[in-house]
Amino acid sequence: MEGTALRHAMARVPGPVTVVTTIDGTGERWGFTANSFTSVSLDPPLVLVCLNKNASTHQAFTSADRFLINVLAHGQDAVARRFARSGVDRFAAGDMESCELGLPGSHGACARVACTMHSIVDAGDHSILIGRVVDTYADDRTPLVYYDRTFACPAPATAAGAEEPVKILHLADW
Ligand SMILES: Cc1cc2nc3c(=O)[nH]c(=O)nc-3n(C[C@H](O)[C@H](O)[C@H](O)COP(=O)(O)O)c2cc1C
Repeated sequence: MEGTALRHAMARVPGPVTVVTTIDGTGERWGFTANSFTSVSLDPPLVLVCLNKNASTHQAFTSADRFLINVLAHGQDAVARRFARSGVDRFAAGDMESCELGLPGSHGACARVACTMHSIVDAGDHSILIGRVVDTYADDRTPLVYYDRTFACPAPATAAGAEEPVKILHLADW
């Protein structure tokens, strides 16, 4: 399987835009933009995010005992770009404040998921950080999504003739 073809196919898959943060033992803040965030289990409550082994943040996150996932809202593309940029102080803008577990969080995020580190799985060129969820925040802001290498704003699909988007309330409450 060729990497370019896989990247091309995966670009068609819309995903959330998150900024994952932690603080190391010296008090230094770390963060990176990630679209690999997803839930894993409800009981126990587990989520995951994948982190490239070559990332400058890899050592900090694989040594961390906790991390915070900030799910960015529509209009926060600049935050996503900044936390993906290499060689800059990603916290210099001063828009990350102490949130759940005392970790750096965005008050503009539409959700935050605070975790203790459950396990780290070795997966090719990435490490899968599996977090046990200990606290959450969520509001009604529209989430930012990412696909085709572009940030986008999701529009709810309305069923023919329906005025309101149809919510899926079955399928085991998924
Ligand atoms: C939209 C978007 C999603 C990203 N998702 C991930 C991800 O899930 N995992 C990851 O390791 N890097 C991801 N990155 C790349 C990192 O944010 C970051 O650019 C990379 O780790 C290089 O940073 P470094 O300078 O710390 O090495 C993403 C970047 C963007 C723009």
